[in-house]
Parts: sequence; structure tokens; C-alpha cells
Amino acid sequence: MPPRDIIIDTDPGQDDAAAILLALGSPDEINVLGITAVAGNVPLALTQKNARIVCELAGKTNVPVFAGCDAPLVRKLVTAEHVHGKTGLDGPALPDPDMPLQDQHGVDFIIETLRARPAETVTLCPLGPLTNIATALQRAPDIAERIQEIVLMGGAYFEVGNITPAAEFNIYVDPEAADIVFKSGVNTTIMPLDVTHKVLVTLKRIDALRAQATPVCDAMADMVDFFERFDTDKYGSDGAPLHDPCVTAYLIKPELFSGRFINVEIETLSELTLGMTVADWWGVTDRAPNAMFMGDVDAQGFFDLLTERLARL
Ligand code: BDR
Ligand code: CA
Repeated sequence: MPPRDIIIDTDPGQDDAAAILLALGSPDEINVLGITAVAGNVPLALTQKNARIVCELAGKTNVPVFAGCDAPLVRKLVTAEHVHGKTGLDGPALPDPDMPLQDQHGVDFIIETLRARPAETVTLCPLGPLTNIATALQRAPDIAERIQEIVLMGGAYFEVGNITPAAEFNIYVDPEAADIVFKSGVNTTIMPLDVTHKVLVTLKRIDALRAQATPVCDAMADMVDFFERFDTDKYGSDGAPLHDPCVTAYLIKPELFSGRFINVEIETLSELTLGMTVADWWGVTDRAPNAMFMGDVDAQGFFDLLTERLARL
């Protein structure tokens, strides 16, 4: 099978960096057509720069990076420096990028790419708030039927929330955008906290990365060391969850994951539960299924894959 063409839409973020590196280290399975940055973990000026830093770290300066939307559709941006640090990529000392930012707006790149390529051959991989994707769908409704699949990190059912008691960060930051995406009719696969909280970066797994003794694996281990502190204190667990690479791991080895095709709706009105992903896991409504909602993962299989592919870069 030829590699799958994807666009990564992202707000790096150390775990976004892991997702990007996993994709770039897997050219037999994944062809990254471009990376579109969005405001999320940190403001857009930093996420677009961080995306380029990650490409340079991987030695893949030919991957075009675009800046997309700098704020959610209707709300004020909420960021997560308390998790990711001031730069979003705190941990390793990485140089400022030399590779240029593309002139084109990220949303225009998404629309043009989907229109220019054969229908259902491009997969979108959102790893941050869904602002760019929703804007593209609003501006160019014809692209919905051209998207092969949206595989995104966001939401939660059993784990409920991480930024509020009821909501996961990516969905909470732009719930109106998430609502548009979830109602778009596009074939969608979701990696919620229910899955990502099972892929914990334990000391043993960080050691396995360091044992590769490559600049990419060392940088990743330093990144994980950094954000580890926040999450292990918060959850009292053995290691922090590594959210976003679940998306790219799924494209390489879907058999690592299992879930249910169910109805998922986004709460956009309630102040208390804003951004909640109301997932009908138990099938208690007659609302039509609209997403493959993952629930379980082979965590060690995931880390073996991540380590092996990052070591290739
Ligand atoms: C998500 O929020 C961000 O902080 C991470 O990068 C991930 O995409 C997890 O809730
Ligand atoms: Ca992210």
C-alpha cells in the first residue's frame, strides 16, 4: 500500500511534537503533505514556530508549515503554558528554525489541497483545537466529501475532562469548531483521554528512548521529562499521558486501538460543562453514530512503535 497522505493540524506542544516525529519517521505508511499550525497550547506565533523547530529536529525541512487561525471561532483563546511551559516546547534546548513559514494561510492550504487531489485520498489529523478544520469546512463546504478521514485527538467519556472537570482541552478551547466538525458527516476517528491516559510515559519508557542515543530521541525524552512533572503531580500516576501521537500511531498500526462507532455531540451552551464530548458509549439514545470513539490501546505496543520510529530520524 502506498503511504497515506495526511495534513497535520497542530498546536505544538511536546506531545504534538511526538505525533509529528512519529509521522515523519514513518514514510512507508505516512506522507505528510503539510503542517498547519493553530492557536492552542500556546499562541499561534509560537505553535507555527514550534512546528518548524520539530521539522528541523527531524531533518525534514521540505515539509511545508503554514500558520492558520490565531483564535477560536467565537471565544477568547485559552492556552496551557502550565502544562507545556512558556514556549510550548519547554524541555530540550532547540535552535530557532531556519526553514521558512509558508505565505499561504493554513486554512487555504487545507482547502486547496483537498480540492486539488483526488477525492478521499487526504486524511486530516487535528492535534489541537479544531478552529482551522472548522473554518475550512465553513468556507468550503464542498471539501467535506473529499476528506478521506479525520483522525483527531480530543474529548473524553470515562475520563471526562482535563482542563475543566467536564471537558478535554482541545474541544474546550473551541467547542463551536468541534461542533461543526462533529456534525460535518466526515468519517471521523477520535482518540479521547480514555485512550491517551493509558499511554503513560513511565521512567522505563523514557529510558528506552534515551537508550537510542539519537538527537531526536534525546530531545523527545527531555520534552517528556518536562511535562511529566505537571501530569504526574496532577494524577499521581507513574508517568504522564502522551496524547497526540495516538493519532499518528493509529495511521501506522490501527490494530493497537479499539473502540466503538457511536454518537458524539459537543456541549456548546452550558457554562459548567462547556466543551464536553457527550459520547453515547452505551447506546442509550437513538442519535445516529458519527464517530469511531476509541476506548483502549496496547500501550507497550504503542511505545515500542514510537521509540523505533523516532530512532529512525
Ligand atoms: C491535548 O491538549 C493539549 O495540551 C495536548 O497537546 C493535547 O493535544 C490533551 O488534552
Ligand atoms: Ca496538541
